Amino acid sequence: MIYFDNAATSFPKPETVYRAMENFMKNIGGNPGRSGHRLSIESAKIIYQARKNLAKLFKVKDSSRIIFTANATEALNLGIKGLLEPGDEVITSAFEHNSVMRPLRTLEKEVKVKVKVIPPSKSETVDLEKLEENITKHTKLIISIHASNVTGDLMPIEKIGKIAKKHNVYFMVDAAQTAGALPLYPEKIGIDLLAFTGHKALFGPQGTGGLYIKERVELKPLKQGGTGSNSEFEEQPDFLPDKYESGTPNTVGIAGLGAGVKFILEEGIEKIKKRKKELTEYLLTKLETIKGIKIYGNKNLPAHRSFSEGGENKTSIVSFNIKNLSSSKISQILSEKHDIMTRPGLHCAPAAHKTLGTFPEGTLRISLSYFNTEQEINQLVKTLKNFQIERCKQIKTDSDRYLFASI
Ligand SMILES: Cc1ncc(COP(=O)(O)O)c(C=O)c1O
Repeated sequence: MIYFDNAATSFPKPETVYRAMENFMKNIGGNPGRSGHRLSIESAKIIYQARKNLAKLFKVKDSSRIIFTANATEALNLGIKGLLEPGDEVITSAFEHNSVMRPLRTLEKEVKVKVKVIPPSKSETVDLEKLEENITKHTKLIISIHASNVTGDLMPIEKIGKIAKKHNVYFMVDAAQTAGALPLYPEKIGIDLLAFTGHKALFGPQGTGGLYIKERVELKPLKQGGTGSNSEFEEQPDFLPDKYESGTPNTVGIAGLGAGVKFILEEGIEKIKKRKKELTEYLLTKLETIKGIKIYGNKNLPAHRSFSEGGENKTSIVSFNIKNLSSSKISQILSEKHDIMTRPGLHCAPAAHKTLGTFPEGTLRISLSYFNTEQEINQLVKTLKNFQIERCKQIKTDSDRYLFASI
């Protein structure tokens, strides 16, 4: 089996992640911070340590400013709905995932929040001049994806952060695809809210994620309830992280996430970044040898150009189409006949596909992990190249005829 769907969720995880989760389930199991007994205290320590590990990875001084959530979607909803009020304006990019666009469109409809979507310019994934021109006295928030989950292209978040600061506007980043993949330090680059997911490059299990909240940023909590603290009061505690973390947490998941982040800290984020960059470059170079392929993103630059211009402009995600072949059919056959996992279609990001001109058909997405290899990439490319030759001989139905028409 070859797994190339790490932008959906990473697989496999480091061994230590499985062991941490099994250890919690078999040997600890207590409800963190709820009781005074040994197992409850052990559980609370696991959560504390995971928070500390994340604070170290993101170079955040006060770990209590990292709130655990069920995923990036919940973190984004907390930031967006916790901040925006009727009449506010929000500016965002044309590459956002639905976990940003849907809460924004809901607020637009329900409470008349005004949403402005800024297209890319010739040289950047977002037109920074247009973005600045669109700031008014009602603009409360700029929100941007860090790396597109369709193309892997990075947004110029440092430049956006500067513009937000200049105009005294909050800046929120959706780092679902970059937390754990690239160095990312919100306190260095003026990010007020950083949403991340635990189950992708951070190597945690599904059902984990979080939100970094900068000092003095006040959000309305999405929920209220038991926190194990201040139990004598019926009002929600006002201190972090309890203000935003009501209800028994996903301790087994957070145990796994803590171990995933520890793995990254021990390997080193620079080493992980370098290896994934090598693999992505290798993948791009190999894909370019396929007849009729169109690779999207980074202004369609081939690998050697997209990575040689200094700085980072891509994560380990590559989206493409092959002339006359449907991405969903290729993905299905790769899975069923060749045991290679990829993701076709729209990737929950219709806005990005409209921007790229690939809506509604979408693209085939290959997303690499630190654990993928050059041999696996060779296998994929060889399979794609043989694909048409093999299948053309076996055309049986009209839909096959369309799908496998020669290029
Ligand atoms: C860019 C981006 N934002 C947000 C999300 C949502 O993450 P989650 O499913 O963990 O809520 C994803 C998931 O694919 C994503 O790629």
